[in-house]
Amino acid sequence: ARRDALPRDLEGVRVVVSAGGTREPLDPVRYLGNRSSGKQGYALARTAAQRGARVTLVSAHTVGLPAPAGVDLVHAGTAEELRDAMHAASPNAGVVVMAAAVADFRPSTRAEYKIKKTDSDPDPVSLTRNPDILAELVAVRAPGQVIVGFAAETGDSNADVLEHARAKLKRKGCDLLVVNAVGEGRAFETEDNAGWLLSADGGERPIELGSKAHMASDIWDAVAQLIQQ
Ligand code: CTP
Ligand code: CA
Repeated sequence: ARRDALPRDLEGVRVVVSAGGTREPLDPVRYLGNRSSGKQGYALARTAAQRGARVTLVSAHTVGLPAPAGVDLVHAGTAEELRDAMHAASPNAGVVVMAAAVADFRPSTRAEYKIKKTDSDPDPVSLTRNPDILAELVAVRAPGQVIVGFAAETGDSNADVLEHARAKLKRKGCDLLVVNAVGEGRAFETEDNAGWLLSADGGERPIELGSKAHMASDIWDAVAQLIQQ
């Protein structure tokens, strides 16, 4: 719902939000990365602060977004750095939101010097799994802490977007999962839904197409409801 004045329903609540995309280095000048802009995570942090929360924003790479007003900003480059920052910030938090696009894999070794080309073909890049930060945070969560995950799903021949998302919510064990349908040519995307908000109690509601700030408001409405329970 659009509002003239934002509610102050997060007054004093400690909130930790991760945002942006991690970059996993191959050597001092190269990395594996992803296309995350960081905008949704920054909008969540800004909106929470406007609603009275004390916000720590753990930011991986973004498209150069400025720090939102009234938010503590911590930078994290790689998945491992982001993991450390989240574990440091989360224990006293009432709400933890994993909006960051965390690389699932990193190069197994990080060359000390720039990798030079030679006359022969290069070695294949060997990859190692990164820790699942959201699953770790769920495993060590404080009593009453609300944990929110994100999922971008394309669906495939086996399952549609919502089926994948329901399975992911169960697997991750978080309280809320924000689901974005991505990819082209899906009937799903011609509807007025930008996504879905799934809750651990089985609740499912569409998030209407709108700005990232609007989507952030819908997410905080759902979180505020959970906190009040
Ligand atoms: N996430 C995380 N640590 C990772 C990978 C993902 O904390 N190493 C978090 C993301 O921040 C997001 C949620 O987990 O909140 C879901 O991410 P997603 O990539 O959709 O799920 P995966 O479990 O990595 O599954 P897949 O990429 O195979 O769909
Ligand atoms: Ca992933």
